[in-house]
Amino acid sequence: MFQMLFGRRRPLVARQIGSAEAGACAPIHAASFAHHWSEAEFESLLASSACVADGAYEGGGATLHGFVLSRRAGDEAEILAIATAPGQRRRGGARMLLARHMRRLADMGVARLFLEVAEDNQAALALYRRAGFTEAGRRKGYYPRPEGPVTALILKRDLD
Ligand SMILES: CC(C)(COP(=O)(O)OP(=O)(O)OC[C@H]1O[C@@H](n2cnc3c(N)ncnc32)[C@H](O)[C@@H]1OP(=O)(O)O)[C@@H](O)C(=O)NCCC(=O)NCCS
Repeated sequence: MFQMLFGRRRPLVARQIGSAEAGACAPIHAASFAHHWSEAEFESLLASSACVADGAYEGGGATLHGFVLSRRAGDEAEILAIATAPGQRRRGGARMLLARHMRRLADMGVARLFLEVAEDNQAALALYRRAGFTEAGRRKGYYPRPEGPVTALILKRDLD
């Protein structure tokens, strides 16, 4: 009924984001991770010259629905965070963001992309595997959890 009245949701598209989007990133991060980054932390990260960040928006809309943020050093980069707002998940936003982000990093001369993910984060693991990441290492007991520490997987993807 909602869709009949208001039309279908438009596809999510990516565009580059910077420190002006810190206030929109912080609540999505807070809803997605146990350890929250404040708006001030986002502001300083996004202002850094080593930071590469993209946001997901609906059509030409102004509301941020997700973001991915990496730190670049030479020809390598590491994804520090990727998250989609809870109400916007499973509509291809993260897959689209990741694809666009990897293309942009490759265009900047980045050859290898790394990230860390908890072994029990099935959603993120499925996303990364489908995007071509493979395991490059493990940090046992890296993430504290109430039910006991969880191993971090270090994933890697070559960019072309
Ligand atoms: C992981 C996360 C970013 C995925 O965002 P999303 O926008 O919902 O992902 P997409 O809709 O683009 O899904 C892409 C693929 O990821 C996988 N995936 C996403 N959510 C999934 C879930 N809940 N269960 C299993 N697989 C999932 C699927 O393979 C999916 O493809 P499909 O829909 O064709 O099956 C989102 O769940 C999130 O923000 N989680 C909290 C933060 C987080 O854990 N970030 C990663 C830290 S390393």
